[in-house]
Amino acid sequence: MQSSQAAEAGKRKSLHGHWSSRMAFVLAVTGSAVGLGNIWKFPYVVGQNGGGAFVLVYLACVAIIGMPVMMSEILMGRRGRRNPIATMALLGDEEGRSRNWKWVGGMGVLGGILILSFYSVIGGWTLSYVINSASGLFSDATATEITDIRNGFIGDWKTIGFFHTVFMALTIVVVARGVERGLEQAVRFMVPALLFMMVILLGYSISSGYFAEGLAFMFAPDFSKLTWDTVLAAMGQAFFTLSIGMGAVMAYGAYLPEETSITSASATVALADTSIAILAGLVIFPLVFANGLDPADGPGLVFITLPLAFGQMSGGTFFATVFFVLLSFAAWTSAISLMEPAVAWVVERFNRTRAQAAVMIGLLIWVVGFGTVLSFNELSEFRFWRGTIFDNLDHLTINIMLPLGGVLIAVFAGWVMCRNSTADELGGTGAIYKLWRVLARYVAPIGILFVFLKAVGLLPDLS
Ligand code: PHE
Repeated sequence: MQSSQAAEAGKRKSLHGHWSSRMAFVLAVTGSAVGLGNIWKFPYVVGQNGGGAFVLVYLACVAIIGMPVMMSEILMGRRGRRNPIATMALLGDEEGRSRNWKWVGGMGVLGGILILSFYSVIGGWTLSYVINSASGLFSDATATEITDIRNGFIGDWKTIGFFHTVFMALTIVVVARGVERGLEQAVRFMVPALLFMMVILLGYSISSGYFAEGLAFMFAPDFSKLTWDTVLAAMGQAFFTLSIGMGAVMAYGAYLPEETSITSASATVALADTSIAILAGLVIFPLVFANGLDPADGPGLVFITLPLAFGQMSGGTFFATVFFVLLSFAAWTSAISLMEPAVAWVVERFNRTRAQAAVMIGLLIWVVGFGTVLSFNELSEFRFWRGTIFDNLDHLTINIMLPLGGVLIAVFAGWVMCRNSTADELGGTGAIYKLWRVLARYVAPIGILFVFLKAVGLLPDLS
């Protein structure tokens, strides 16, 4: 029974084709993971949450929660070979449990749509900074001038609405063409190039004279700055940056060839992703302190610090342009993966072509995106719960939906799927398998729920 099930799962084919190699898969998941989360979001959430202690919690979350959840997603995706909704229904069935697990996939599809609605707006900012950089706008500009430029830019809904539209259109085009063509090539070049640019910037920030301050801010933990809300934000960031908790990696896992090692692929991606985030912090914070800026400035932080740095470098116009092109690419490859679960679902469920599905879902996301476009200008005073519409979408998806999806995915892989099925996908029951299983069954679900309950104040303090 078990072995015939395994054989059946082994023969299953994805309806959308497969990655051409292990490398292609690793690159695609890295392309999904490395994005605005690393370079735009990571520095500003670290800044808002007080630095070192936040970074430590974030790193711990990546290692003990992020890794096992990522492995769980990939193995579920590869076993089901469908979109996340159908995969969870199918596997639930196959394991003799409920098909209702499909709702977890459904939450992921919805999460992807909501996240992309604001991700695309920031992706649009990045695109427009390609033009700003190329036109030499930042050369020799002061911190005040650059802050004014940014404020003027995000204060104008028509401009950022326009770039949001361009960004969404680009995303729709790639998703419509299918994930293999284009994406692999883009990522193969983009990730190393981005890394190279970050190293150049690092050189500049080391020479700013404030590197020690930046380093201390990022790595000297001041635990008095840590609240449960901050811990929740660190955990949410770990999910967001690794692209886990919403089925993006599960959808990509569905196209993964049988032989590839899920463990080593996950470790490679997590390492690349974390390194780029840390590097971004090391570039940004010295510049923040050197220029008397506020680390807690928020979502616009990198759109000030980096132009400032480039503006003072020789050849800065060129480097800035290259940098924002690369960042746009990074955002683009992540945006594609945010759309993939919803598009795969529409294709399979409603028998549409990829192009039709991509346009339908893309239009929906584009419309929702105007909630975020307007959050920085016309509706900036319209505040409830966590703040503007953007603040609410951000908190709801990143700090609530992703970790919640993560618990359910870990519980599914750890408890609902039997040992044989998961061992089959993870290549045996050796030490790594045992470690994964303990993390997926106990550490990740309990850890996530604990932080959640603490953050909403449902668990009393012991002291
Ligand atoms: N990981 C991406 C980033 O860091 C964002 C993302 C989240 C992509 C969830 C897919 C799924 O920018």
